[in-house]
Amino acid sequence: PFGLKDAFEGKFLIGTALNMNQIWRSHQAPIKVLKQHFNSIVAENSMKSMFLQPREGEFNFKNADLFVEFGKKNDMEIIGHTLIWHSQAPRWFFSDKEGQDVSREVLIERMRQHIHTVVSRYKGQIKGWDVVNEVILDNGEWRKSKFYEIIGDDFIKLAFQFAHEADPEAELYYNDYNTAIPAKREGIGRVIKQILDSGGRVDAIGMQEHHGLHFPSLNEVENSIKYFSNLGVDVMVTEMDISVLPHARPNAGANISDTSAFRKELNPYPDGLPDDVMLQLGKRYIDFFRLYLKHQDKISRVTLWGISDKDSWLNNFPVRGRTNYPLLFDRQYNPKPFVKEIIALA
Ligand code: XIL
Repeated sequence: PFGLKDAFEGKFLIGTALNMNQIWRSHQAPIKVLKQHFNSIVAENSMKSMFLQPREGEFNFKNADLFVEFGKKNDMEIIGHTLIWHSQAPRWFFSDKEGQDVSREVLIERMRQHIHTVVSRYKGQIKGWDVVNEVILDNGEWRKSKFYEIIGDDFIKLAFQFAHEADPEAELYYNDYNTAIPAKREGIGRVIKQILDSGGRVDAIGMQEHHGLHFPSLNEVENSIKYFSNLGVDVMVTEMDISVLPHARPNAGANISDTSAFRKELNPYPDGLPDDVMLQLGKRYIDFFRLYLKHQDKISRVTLWGISDKDSWLNNFPVRGRTNYPLLFDRQYNPKPFVKEIIALA
């Protein structure tokens, strides 16, 4: 049957994040939707460093291997996510036996080991890697992560270099959220331009696109698509979802330091998404897809951060136990009413 991937054929790849539960039960509803609509997958968690290398030198590739096998078997383009990220990284990575920060040299060597081991294991099988995730803040400054504090700002250039060494054919991406905020857009631009100018390889900038119903504006998203493309790299939409809850997740404009607001509205729509909100969500998705199609010469992939509302991380973020409706398929894995309109756009 005709799906999103048929509609966007020759325009951009259309992908989704997958979790291990879905791969283990690969005969079930989510996989049926996956095969009909998507041609690219990314592991929601199983390629993050805390899972791949829980202790120094002890790699656990069980789930990542299953994920890659699954992708190959089903003819999917496979995206690796993510090599260097301050979050979901094991604590040992940054510290010595006494719990003190390691030296610059040691941390660089750990980065090299991790990246070389992981990337070379899947050489030729992964289309591209999110090499570095979320290192620029909304104000355009460096995130003061352990990578930044211990190594200095050349850690990002080194990460791209190590990944390129390990698989010279693989595409390499920088990935971040809130990329429509002008200061952040320019901060990312500054850093990526430096790497490119010094001869480093960066193929694309990934805009995560964790949106709310009202934030960010289409106009600022469009400005970012043009701005990133002008640096000479592809643009990708890497983790799209649209929170419908009145307090959208912090990346979509709310303030995370006060979680009580999120707790007060765990499930504002206990009887399912009301028609008017479904309409709003549909309009928002259609607006974005229309924008991505307008810039299809710049955009090489659009990936949703999950298949159905049932799987979405936004049910648990920023507080656990919310009921959110941010994706294209409902909790029964049926397409939402506006999916056929998205298909008709292309
Ligand atoms: C999220 C996963 O969806 C959750 O299951 C996990 O608990 C936390 O991470 N930015 C990213 C993704 O780059 O890796 C995050 O994924 C969502 C935000």
